[in-house]
Amino acid sequence: MFDFLSSNGYHAQIMRKLPTSGTIEIAPSILSADFSRLKEHIDLVAKSVKMLHLDIMDGHFVPNITIGPIVVKWLRPHFDLFFDTHLMISDPIKYAPEFVKAGSDGITFHLEAVSDPAATIRQLRQLDISVGVSIKPGTTVQALEPIVADVDMVLLMTVEPGFGGQSFIPESLDRCKNVKKMLRDDQRLQVDGGIYPDTAKIITQAGADTLVVGNGVFGQPNRDNPAAAVNHILNACIS
Ligand code: DX5
Ligand code: ZN
Repeated sequence: MFDFLSSNGYHAQIMRKLPTSGTIEIAPSILSADFSRLKEHIDLVAKSVKMLHLDIMDGHFVPNITIGPIVVKWLRPHFDLFFDTHLMISDPIKYAPEFVKAGSDGITFHLEAVSDPAATIRQLRQLDISVGVSIKPGTTVQALEPIVADVDMVLLMTVEPGFGGQSFIPESLDRCKNVKKMLRDDQRLQVDGGIYPDTAKIITQAGADTLVVGNGVFGQPNRDNPAAAVNHILNACIS
């Protein structure tokens, strides 16, 4: 299905690599950004981070609808950031090529959305991108075991996917420790939902190294200074 991709110029653009593991990275989620001035809002934080988190929702896998590839395409030329694309959609394989064509550097799919995760990973690999797999709070971490060795990143949801601004689920701490035990040093462990300085500190102690932050970066009271919010969260992690 994807054989045509490498030969028709899809990758004429630069493909950015997931930051090498061993660091704590913040991936601001544009879900909480001001979409009336989206580029300008991201500009305020772009020099402080390496990754930008793009939440894609289809109103089917989750009860909310967000953005499609066209927004990725318009943002792409303005930012030299790793476009970390979280597909909360029922058919990731159908839409992943369009996101890659638009400029996504990494695609994370939901384990719950696909019947054959190993095949999904193989198909995503053909797109020559970083591949992540995500699980919702109600999915057992053991469900990752058959395929965890084959991904670059695991995304552990620390809220129910679908909306920003929710509270961190405390049971995520033990789940994070258990996922961490499954990973090699070169794989990232990302968490997403309810991350602020306090939860960032405890979840990084539990093994997370890649923190998606929406409201905590782009929401109030940090709306006009998201870079300061990023620094505050990073400082909390090392204090
Ligand atoms: C939720 C999304 C998150 C969301 C996190 O389904 O996957 O990326 O933006 O938002 P906060 O940080 O506000 O909980
Ligand atoms: Zn997300």
